[in-house]
Amino acid sequence: MIVCSCNVLSDSQVRETCARANAPRSPFQVYQCLGCSPQCGRCARTIRGIMDEALKGACETCPAVCPAAGVVPAE
Ligand code: FES
Repeated sequence: MIVCSCNVLSDSQVRETCARANAPRSPFQVYQCLGCSPQCGRCARTIRGIMDEALKGACETCPAVCPAAGVVPAE
């Protein structure tokens, strides 16, 4: 399904980008990884949602407390 009509990006392209070893951390980085740039920006929220879904399990693989996940060690 096309999620960005300006750049003709599909949801599977966004998911594949998120599966890379150095996954993008923002919709802007997704555009960069796919060789384009945001035009109207209407798709940014959709791309963010796909990213959140694709990266949902990533924190579960971290072995220790991760500041990126907002987890603070107990004292
Ligand atoms: S729909 Fe993606 S930048 Fe316009």
